[in-house]
Amino acid sequence: MKKVITYGTFDLLHYGHINVLKKARELGDYLIVALSTNEFNAIKGKECYFSYDQRKKLVEAIRYVDLVIPEDSWEQKVHDVKEFKVDVFTIGNDWSGKFDFLKEYCDVVYLSRTPEISTTKIKKDLGLDEESVS
Ligand code: CTP
Repeated sequence: MKKVITYGTFDLLHYGHINVLKKARELGDYLIVALSTNEFNAIKGKECYFSYDQRKKLVEAIRYVDLVIPEDSWEQKVHDVKEFKVDVFTIGNDWSGKFDFLKEYCDVVYLSRTPEISTTKIKKDLGLDEESVS
């Protein structure tokens, strides 16, 4: 069985997320999503609308996803790849080249992003971003 892993926040789930998860699952037979915790998002300077548990329920309900685990540090990727015997690490190409160090442990695939949609854009369009709130 070919195992694939991807990482992300997946807040305010949108069709760009569904596309990347579908493409990720097509790279193998079993898809693990390492979902950023709100504590880790704070380190990344991101504030989520939904809680970790709410985002986890949404991502778990997607047919392409087999397992959701927490992402709480930048350093955990090598550990996860080894622990879950991952064959492919994948993520959107906004991260192109950033995780090439994992090639020592598994294949690394950068997927093309869906244009013109992001959580940031949704927040901005709905007036939920920091600039609109403050
Ligand atoms: N993604 C994508 N196409 C988009 C938006 C996101 O392929 N239009 C992918 C990202 O490349 C990543 C995953 O979805 O692999 C999760 O990204 P995340 O940062 O949670 O979503 P964004 O919508 O980009 O959120 P933000 O605006 O907060 O960065």
